[in-house]
Amino acid sequence: MKNGPSVLALLVAMLLVLPMAVWAGGGQEKSEPAPVEKGEVMVPQVKTDYGTPSGKLEIFSWWAGDEGPALEALIDLFTENNPRVEVINATVTGGSGVNAKAVLKTRMLGGDPPDSFQVHAGQELIGTWVAAERMLDLTPLFEDQGWMDVFPEDLINLIGTENGIWSVPVNVHRSNVMWYIPEKLEEWGIEAPESWDDFLEIAGDIEAQGVVPLSLATNWTVNHLWESVALGVLGPDKYDALWEGELDWTSPEAIKVWETLDRILDYVNEDFASLSWQQATDMVVEGDAAFNVMGDWAAGYMSTTLGLAPNEDYAWVASPGTDGIFMFLADSFGFPKGVKNEAAALAWLKACGSREGQDTFNPLKGSISARTDSALSKYNDYSKSAAEDFADNRIVGSLAHGVTANEGFMNDFATVMEMFLKSRNPEQAANAAQAIAIQNGIISK
Ligand code: GAL
Repeated sequence: MKNGPSVLALLVAMLLVLPMAVWAGGGQEKSEPAPVEKGEVMVPQVKTDYGTPSGKLEIFSWWAGDEGPALEALIDLFTENNPRVEVINATVTGGSGVNAKAVLKTRMLGGDPPDSFQVHAGQELIGTWVAAERMLDLTPLFEDQGWMDVFPEDLINLIGTENGIWSVPVNVHRSNVMWYIPEKLEEWGIEAPESWDDFLEIAGDIEAQGVVPLSLATNWTVNHLWESVALGVLGPDKYDALWEGELDWTSPEAIKVWETLDRILDYVNEDFASLSWQQATDMVVEGDAAFNVMGDWAAGYMSTTLGLAPNEDYAWVASPGTDGIFMFLADSFGFPKGVKNEAAALAWLKACGSREGQDTFNPLKGSISARTDSALSKYNDYSKSAAEDFADNRIVGSLAHGVTANEGFMNDFATVMEMFLKSRNPEQAANAAQAIAIQNGIISK
């Protein structure tokens, strides 16, 4: 058991700091937004006008360093349109937000929210800051900007509850992608595998040529790999059933996911725990590894940062056994209660949701626009293929990037994975996963 603060202590801390969050900033009188009555509850809503934005705007995300160019381009566009605002681009490095989320938690609970912050659409948003009533309902903004008609309904459902809409999606990323270098595969006489059994069949041959069959990186990328393996082994119906609490984690199929992962882990680089996701991509680019399974921010990294051309210098397939399925996630930005600069936060969210903003950000990021009216001519071949697949494929949600399960489960799952990496015991991992699924309300028993 971890010795962290109890829920009660956190609640008391929040009650103590909340009044401090109502304060004057940026020269404007500040107050909590007027709540709107929704059924039994009073929900604070965003206004659609706070006057001309000026002063400092702090945006908080984990898009640092190599992950930064897309956000920087969006900030440039924002600054052109809002010249009186100075953007503070506050980043906490670490893929998938491993470090940023912890810093955000301290700031939110300390009554010092950034003006806007990155958060995954789905349970990660709803189960944390929405549940803690720390966000403004953005429904008036969505209506004002005509976004109800341009964002897919399923996506709006994912960022909404019956009491409101809680963030603005800026993109759609795909999680289940396997990357490789075509020239290298030819040299090694192999093809991209269609299933994990295929992969395991060719892995020995790849290794015999002095090449790592599958590159892997730090802890969260193992969870990322797990979800692709789970989708490949279970298929989309049973994968969804896991999140709906309709498939036991101790069922033979679910145990098989861990067994398959166990066999795959025999063919990854030994130093994986110390690498960043970019370094695992570099291993493929440099010919040290044959394949890497990573979300399509890897396409952004290869195209934007490394200057490689999709379909020529690098290529991709759906991760083994998942052709025709798009495992999706979306980054979004929300409007916390008690921000210092409401006018600038509103202007930022308008930029995030705008067609121009999305078509500036996403071509550099490797993601596609979350809007249905995006200008595809601005995107490279990888993104065009992702947009086609998103329109045609069966869609499922990502665990590692906040869609399918609440943060409690995600954190506990990371612990189960750490245990599995030490024990490599599929049955034990399946039992532990079942226990945390019950504890976190995924399975009701
Ligand atoms: C994901 C996020 C992506 C990308 C990736 C690697 O969670 O949604 O936009 O940043 O992490 O850090």
